[in-house]
Amino acid sequence: MSEHQPLLEIVADAGAAASRAAEIIAARVVSGRVKVLGLATGGTMVPLYANLVAAVRARRLSLGGLTSFNLDEYVGVAPRLPASFHAYMRQHLLGETDLDPARAHIPDGMAPDLAAEASRYEMAIARAGGIDLQVLGIGSNGHIGFNEPGSDFGSRTRVVGLSEATRRANAAEFPDGAVPEQALTMGIATIIEAREILLLAIGAKKAGAIAAAIEGPISPDCPASALRLHAQVRIICDKAAASKLDGPQADIRRRA
Ligand code: GLP
Repeated sequence: MSEHQPLLEIVADAGAAASRAAEIIAARVVSGRVKVLGLATGGTMVPLYANLVAAVRARRLSLGGLTSFNLDEYVGVAPRLPASFHAYMRQHLLGETDLDPARAHIPDGMAPDLAAEASRYEMAIARAGGIDLQVLGIGSNGHIGFNEPGSDFGSRTRVVGLSEATRRANAAEFPDGAVPEQALTMGIATIIEAREILLLAIGAKKAGAIAAAIEGPISPDCPASALRLHAQVRIICDKAAASKLDGPQADIRRRA
């Protein structure tokens, strides 16, 4: 596979990143280019989803024709619990827009047979015709979805162990301290099969991961570096997340 340069957009702050990402998604949905949308969770996505909700309420956008696939879910956290990604999606998007809950897929982290659930999820994506646009955040250790450092670039949806760094980063969602040790996540191969990828990164704590993903070696040590094997990747960063980039792309953007 050949290496590609992601298209990098450096914007002032989180608000600008969210509205720019929402504008891109809305344009693709309105034109019909995106019918299957890959969705992410995490703090970074909250203002993006707020922008999409506002566009739907203002009748500038309908998500009614979409099928969606979320990247991941914790193992053993019931959908009704607030820390689940099911609850997150209900709160930030599903309950607030015309996206049909029956077509909004999220891996079932409570499935009795998790390997069977992972294959079922891969088959559902394939049956939907594949993902047109996958939205991604990034972990401060470079993870995408819950593909932690060391994940094989050929990996598909599967059960993974969460790193200590990730469990610490997400601990606030689990006030009882019971941060799950495992998750079900789309694999790196699943993610990079999407026709187009839009990654958002906000804040100085993502600067190291963004520099490694864009300018470091393409290696499982930084799962997000796999995105350079894809020809249609756009990365939207605020200035803080872009602050450790020192290659030509960052220079061009800063001069613009
Ligand atoms: C989470 C999710 C990722 C997300 C990342 C960053 O654990 N599994 O999909 O991109 O970590 O989250 P945040 O946006 O809260 O920094």
